[in-house]
Amino acid sequence: MVIFGATGDLTKRKLFPAIYNLAKEGHIPDNFAIIGVGRQEMESEDFCRQMQENLAEFLPGKSDDDLMLWFRERTYYTGGDFDDDKKLFKDIKEMAAEVRTQHDIPDNFFFYMAIPPSLFANVTQKIVKNGLGKEENGNWRRFIFEKPFGHDLESAKKLNADLLKLLKERQIYRIDHYLGKETVQNLLVFRFGNSVFEPIWNRNFVDHVQITVAEQLGVEQRGDYYDTAGALRDMIPNHIFQLVTLTAMEPPVSFDAESVHNEQAKILRAIKCFTPEETLHSAVRGQYGEGEIDGKKAAAYRSESNVKRESQTETYAALKLSIDNWRWADVPFYIRTGKRMPERHSSIIVQFKKAPFTLFENTPVERLTTNRIEIHIQPDEGITLHFGAKIPGPIVRVGPVDMDFNYLDHFGEQAATGYERLLFDCMIGDSTLFQRADMVEASWSIVSPILDVWSAIPPRDFPNYAAGSWGPPEADELLSRNGRQWKNTPHVPDKQK
Ligand code: BG6
Repeated sequence: MVIFGATGDLTKRKLFPAIYNLAKEGHIPDNFAIIGVGRQEMESEDFCRQMQENLAEFLPGKSDDDLMLWFRERTYYTGGDFDDDKKLFKDIKEMAAEVRTQHDIPDNFFFYMAIPPSLFANVTQKIVKNGLGKEENGNWRRFIFEKPFGHDLESAKKLNADLLKLLKERQIYRIDHYLGKETVQNLLVFRFGNSVFEPIWNRNFVDHVQITVAEQLGVEQRGDYYDTAGALRDMIPNHIFQLVTLTAMEPPVSFDAESVHNEQAKILRAIKCFTPEETLHSAVRGQYGEGEIDGKKAAAYRSESNVKRESQTETYAALKLSIDNWRWADVPFYIRTGKRMPERHSSIIVQFKKAPFTLFENTPVERLTTNRIEIHIQPDEGITLHFGAKIPGPIVRVGPVDMDFNYLDHFGEQAATGYERLLFDCMIGDSTLFQRADMVEASWSIVSPILDVWSAIPPRDFPNYAAGSWGPPEADELLSRNGRQWKNTPHVPDKQK
């Protein structure tokens, strides 16, 4: 495994802990090694020392000394200028040859691009030019690219075209870490591995779907990236569209990558692109001003470090999507994401239509509980079915109740960063949980027209929500004009007694 960007945040927080967890579970063979590549010059021993300190910080629980030694023996580092064709890539090639001999490693490589997207094509081109990317005699070369994959439709198309000049599609793994989350993967099992849900999962029974990815954190140290990206680009064409496609897609004919991707791509193509008028009507943007979270003062976005004082970047986005196909005609999918919300939670809510009230007209019941299925993605993972039950007593009264499934209670704690499954799948050549080129482009073609309108008409009211609130009032109106409302605080499944 060759990691470009080996001294960066992602490598220390996610990649090394994930490899450690995989090795601990016995999923990595002994003939394996990592070469970290960064701009800094450093000896392998110093890199290993740093890696060990980072593992201690980012892995909960005590680390295992034998495993740490196993790791240190297989971790190497080389540094230099990524633009320098000759020196750095020659060094990597020589180091890889030595490491392979030392650990008896077959001629298989995967390259992890934990570097800014502007360098993806360039670094890949240098790998290929230096003979490191060539597949021969059944050996493989795979390349994982971190998000963001482009910043609009045009740049995503160019990046795909540049990479496809150098590599085959099957060698390209466009990662979206939401697909590493257990509950997200469980969506397919929940929908297609059970017979009770699928028959009601359509416009005949579903009133609407709500998908929320709310974060309590602000932009932390990432102001310079975030201020050029914004909430829409950062979260919607990738993470949230993954949730939309897995919720809405038809059953694939098999679990192989192509069949799953084909069904996901069909949904992306069925999402109706907004006209400029629809953008004004069905898309809401917001930016947080100062406020309070958990009793503590929180600064405004414009006062965060590396953010422009007069920034017009949105930190909140909500859309009302229509999926123009047979199953979902007239069932809106409301999606939203925001920073500095009152709490961190991601969920998918499938809200069912009301039952007829006729039977209850001459009873004290004023209204019936509507049914919904809540799929909790984080921080609690689980599923809740919400329905009405008779309140005990001689009079007919109905009250809302919940039936819960909580992952933790049933399956116990899993040591996972969310990257384990994705790294493992790349090693075994399964790209099901990665994005295909056409999916990335289809996602951008939905989002780009909105971005165009937003950049042509700058927001006049930013900041328009307080840190610690649920976003701007327009986001509530997006639903309330059709008599609906966001479910803000999700039902948290009870822990088993
Ligand atoms: C990243 C975004 O892709 O996902 C971040 O760039 C965001 O802005 C993060 O905070 C959210 O991931 P998670 O797993 O914490 O929901």
